[in-house]
Amino acid sequence: MKFEEIKEIVKRSMSEKRFNHSCGVARRAVELAKIYGLDEEKARLVGIAHDIAKEIPKDEALKYAKDNGIVFDEIEEKEPGLWHSKIGADIAIKKFGFSKEMAQAIIFHTTGNVNMTAFDKIIYIADKTEENRTNEELIEAREISNKDLDEGVLCVSKRAIKYSLGKNSLIHPDTINLINQIIEKKNNQLK
Ligand SMILES: [Fe+2]
Ligand SMILES: [Fe+2]
Repeated sequence: MKFEEIKEIVKRSMSEKRFNHSCGVARRAVELAKIYGLDEEKARLVGIAHDIAKEIPKDEALKYAKDNGIVFDEIEEKEPGLWHSKIGADIAIKKFGFSKEMAQAIIFHTTGNVNMTAFDKIIYIADKTEENRTNEELIEAREISNKDLDEGVLCVSKRAIKYSLGKNSLIHPDTINLINQIIEKKNNQLK
């Protein structure tokens, strides 16, 4: 499916605020793709589509997951805020015709993952540093992520954990493992 078609479906599937966020993520993802030499069109498509499942009501989301063989892990089961990653990726493949590579970026966009590719990382960062997010720390994260991809991931992951703790949400181990991986890599480079 073409960008404009997906954008229309996205617009009809969510609030105006989230749609604006999605457009912001698409623009930011393209910006990052340019910096890091990745496919700009794929970044734009994944950016606009990444939250396609975010506003599906809980019961419908559970039904979709069940009907489509989507399995949630222990933490995901308890945190409905995480469901839209796997469901969104499934919709993106089946409805929008995304490749597995593109869909993986949607799967990883909320929690991050140690197996992230550079493409997954730009989507993860774009979600958290797009123009509608104006928090000071995030402005800093934007600058950092324009210079170093892993530093950018580290910065937004730390912020995401703080945010989740503030809301008394469960922390997904994938985010902790990702932070540990980057810190270990950084420490080894210093040796
Ligand atoms: Fe999301
Ligand atoms: Fe998002």
